[in-house]
Amino acid sequence: MGLRLLLALCGLATCCRATSVPLVVPEALHLLSRGCNDSDVLAVAGFALKDINKDREDGYVLSLNRVSDVWEHRQDGLGSLFYLTLDVLETDCHVLSKKLWKDCGVRMLHESVYGQCKVAFYVNKPRRVLYLHAYNCTLRPVSRRMIHDTCPDCPAPSTTDLSNPRVLEAATESLAKYNNESTSKQYSLVKITKASTQWVVGPAYFVKYLIKESPCTKSQASSCSLQLSDSKPVGLCKGQLIKTDMKTSVSAECEFFESQVPAPEGENSAAKQGPENLPKEGTASTNPSSKAVPRGSVQYLPDLDDGKPEGSQEKDLHEAFPVQLDLTTNPLGEELDVSFLFLWPVKEKLLVLPFPKRNHRSSECPGPAQMGNPLVLPP
Ligand SMILES: *[C@@H]1O[C@H](CO)[C@@H](O)[C@H](O)[C@H]1NC(C)=O
Ligand SMILES: *[C@@H]1O[C@H](CO)[C@@H](O)[C@H](O)[C@H]1NC(C)=O
Ligand SMILES: *[C@@H]1O[C@H](CO)[C@@H](O)[C@H](O)[C@H]1NC(C)=O
Repeated sequence: MGLRLLLALCGLATCCRATSVPLVVPEALHLLSRGCNDSDVLAVAGFALKDINKDREDGYVLSLNRVSDVWEHRQDGLGSLFYLTLDVLETDCHVLSKKLWKDCGVRMLHESVYGQCKVAFYVNKPRRVLYLHAYNCTLRPVSRRMIHDTCPDCPAPSTTDLSNPRVLEAATESLAKYNNESTSKQYSLVKITKASTQWVVGPAYFVKYLIKESPCTKSQASSCSLQLSDSKPVGLCKGQLIKTDMKTSVSAECEFFESQVPAPEGENSAAKQGPENLPKEGTASTNPSSKAVPRGSVQYLPDLDDGKPEGSQEKDLHEAFPVQLDLTTNPLGEELDVSFLFLWPVKEKLLVLPFPKRNHRSSECPGPAQMGNPLVLPP
């Protein structure tokens, strides 16, 4: 630790001389540049991503491709606030499935969606607290042009909105088939979440869509217009529609989400602190009834090639994944009351600094990637 701190200090001093920024504030001395392949950093990144996925209600579970940058801000006797920049990949699991990212399969290259998240994550090991303070992510689909160059026959992504009537047709036909084969419940379409097309023996449409339970019975199916007002999506289906002159072939395959029974609140806070409850991966958790509010969002941007003349790509690569995480405008930081994370009635405050800029990144960053193909790594 001593050496690390010293190195960090030297680093700060050099940077300050070079850019003539005013004096380093004392608190900044606790801001340590960490290695992106350090085992504890990888563990923290894993917990942070798990909580991000848990916080979301839309889209697919994100998995960790690599840690791109990491700073640890040691708080006096109160654990550490980590400022993480994570390179992520979309998996096959919908966030509503509540599956852990480590249990989800990564997409094939031609259907990859990748991006970057900035996260402020608080860790207090002795008091067994893990808390997601704020995050923001930006995602893009893999470059269609690059995929086409190497795999001209791969399915090409298609819009999931109604601008392509064939996509909607594929989803409704697929669901009709599923409902027809279902012996009990009937389902209706919530929305299409993925779509792609490919020439097989004729045009083929592949879709993924969310379904909810329909109050209609099978005999009413086609004429039924009853709607359950607040019914939630219950599953994710995969369908395809292939048309040739001779025949139409339709398929449907649905996976249902595990019922989402929320854990009783008392149990949750007990799990956080009792010394006999050692944290296992996946148990320590953030408090759902927290007072500190900021969480975050995931922004989807189009393919990097869209709307760009060929060759002009290299220019503003760093603006290609704009991820904004404004924690505070005060360069000296701002206090954050985290008393609610602890059982006893004591005021506990963290110091939150502005998210560190990437231009003084640690030499041990980025870390090794799970999927090292440059097509799915943000610059
Ligand atoms: C519904 O299923 C039955 C058999 O289970 C089949 O004979 C019928 O053709 C199916 N209808 C549609 C529209 O798929
Ligand atoms: C997250 O990003 C959005 C824009 O995508 C921005 O409006 C919002 O302020 C950001 N949140 C934080 C905490 O910076
Ligand atoms: C990352 O860490 C693991 C285990 O600690 C090690 O085996 C691996 O070689 C490291 N990779 C890099 C690129 O440093």
